[in-house]
Amino acid sequence: MKITVETKGGEFNFDCEPTERILFAALRHGLTVPYECATGTCGTCRGRIMQGTAHVAWDAAPGFARLKRDKGDVLMCQARPGTDCVLRIPADVAARPDSPPLPSHRAGRIAGARKLTPDVMEIEVSLPQPMAFEAGQFVVLEAPGVLGGRAYSMVNFGRDVDQIGLVVKQKVGGGFCDWLFQGDVTGSDVNVFGPLGRATYRPAERRNILCIAGGSGIAGMLSILEAATQGNYFREHSGHVFFGVRALADGFHLGRLHDYSRAAAGKLEITLALSHEQPPSAAHPLFPGIRLMAGMVGDAAALAMAGRYDNMAAFVAGPPPMVDAALRLLIRDARIPTQFIRYDKFA
Ligand SMILES: Cc1cc2nc3c(=O)[nH]c(=O)nc-3n(C[C@H](O)[C@H](O)[C@H](O)COP(=O)(O)OP(=O)(O)OC[C@H]3O[C@@H](n4cnc5c(N)ncnc54)[C@H](O)[C@@H]3O)c2cc1C
Ligand code: FES
Repeated sequence: MKITVETKGGEFNFDCEPTERILFAALRHGLTVPYECATGTCGTCRGRIMQGTAHVAWDAAPGFARLKRDKGDVLMCQARPGTDCVLRIPADVAARPDSPPLPSHRAGRIAGARKLTPDVMEIEVSLPQPMAFEAGQFVVLEAPGVLGGRAYSMVNFGRDVDQIGLVVKQKVGGGFCDWLFQGDVTGSDVNVFGPLGRATYRPAERRNILCIAGGSGIAGMLSILEAATQGNYFREHSGHVFFGVRALADGFHLGRLHDYSRAAAGKLEITLALSHEQPPSAAHPLFPGIRLMAGMVGDAAALAMAGRYDNMAAFVAGPPPMVDAALRLLIRDARIPTQFIRYDKFA
């Protein structure tokens, strides 16, 4: 199907398969169309159908709440073209077909799955063609029998990888989580679309790094720390990671965090914040390079970082209320310029 988008940055045309989401086709063609979650919750990917028809797979998507459906508004991440379409997008869109890494569709396979804690699973997804991505990005997975796509951030990092690692925090009753946690999914085929997301590590900015993660929000931060460690970034810059979990036993990938901290020779501080348990000691009993604090992760970051936000780029990821609280801290108190604050809301 032929799609035309009218935007503040001009008019653009691209092809979209009838089975493809209009957002994904636009991103594949290098258009900088607006989006955040890519999975129907945030409402950022709003477009208005001016000509033609589109099918919406998930009518109950929460992202519709802010849209005027009677005027033809659709979530581009949920809309598939029924005919050639003209859409109006109220944003300044540009065409950057040569700025990698552009996302694409891949047929992936679950190469392995293992529990990191009773309710956190790590999965390895093998890809038929290698994928380049920036540290901090995510993919959208579609699993057999699960309606719609789910976003997960890569925990690994490499130039062109043929396997990506993801960590999934169990949501009881969730479609993807029930599929993942209730049987052995190794060997299952999954559709992968990516890489996606703008909460990326940009070493050329030459800023110190602050990461505030709630639960599985640590995923993309692990990728960022891997990229920064590979590039010896902490020789010249400092890093501060705040990882929020409920109790000590809920922490995962702590050995890896501890190793990054050691490799950074004192320039990378890691803090595990426990929201529902008093820390037994000031440092983790098994990983003494990891400091323990009590309370919500944003509050722990506010306490430990007061007056230390100089030349900082901040990354935030996790459940939406936690992300919103951290963003308030970073904008109002820390006064970090918004172009250096990047986040993913795991809605
Ligand atoms: C940018 C981003 C990155 C994320 N990264 C991670 C991560 O690294 N680790 C992690 O644990 N979680 C991550 N999440 C959350 C994750 O995508 C899922 O929301 C979570 O795992 C729960 O999925 P579920 O299917 O079990 O729950 P469900 O409640 O079944 O679904 C959750 C989401 O799936 C979509 N969805 C549900 N039903 C449908 C339907 N019928 N049709 C279409 N779409 C539907 C919606 O987006 C919904 O919010 C991320 C979210 C975002 C937005
Ligand atoms: S990007 Fe489509 S609703 Fe979030």
